[in-house]
Amino acid sequence: MEYVSKSLKQTYKIAYDYAKTLEKGDVVLLQGEMGAGKTQFTKGLAKGLEITDEITSPTYAYMNDYDGVLYHYDCYRLSSGEDAEALGLTDYFYNGGICVIEWSENIKSVLPKKVKIVKIEKINEKTRKITL
Ligand SMILES: Nc1ncnc2c1ncn2[C@@H]1O[C@H](COP(=O)(O)OP(=O)(O)O)[C@@H](O)[C@H]1O
Ligand SMILES: [Mg+2]
Repeated sequence: MEYVSKSLKQTYKIAYDYAKTLEKGDVVLLQGEMGAGKTQFTKGLAKGLEITDEITSPTYAYMNDYDGVLYHYDCYRLSSGEDAEALGLTDYFYNGGICVIEWSENIKSVLPKKVKIVKIEKINEKTRKITL
């Protein structure tokens, strides 16, 4: 499915609705350049999962754990799958929660076989093409 979002609010709504289609254990790869809206999309998705904690970018922590319901990864600073494994980050892929991963390209070798992909493309300042 392809969507055009013309505002942050629309992106939240698309992500919120998408969350309702997810099942326990799903691993979602968020693809898109820096500033595309991956973290903002995760905020909407978390709302859809009824998470009330504020979602913050896990850039420095690599992964934020929201009560075992959502694991939000940012692998920008990881350089290999082995690094992710050594940090214990891959254990959560099979933990029954939903994993949402930014910059998964960096840890390609350790990703599960079955994943879902969300692609966010920046069209202009406020417009994004979102492919689910
Ligand atoms: N339609 C839109 N959807 C998502 N983000 C948008 C949109 N329009 C503008 N933005 C802005 O783009 C930025 C996206 O940032 P962020 O989600 O942190 O990107 P990423 O995690 O992909 O690097 C935010 O500053 C947000 O306000
Ligand atoms: Mg981000």
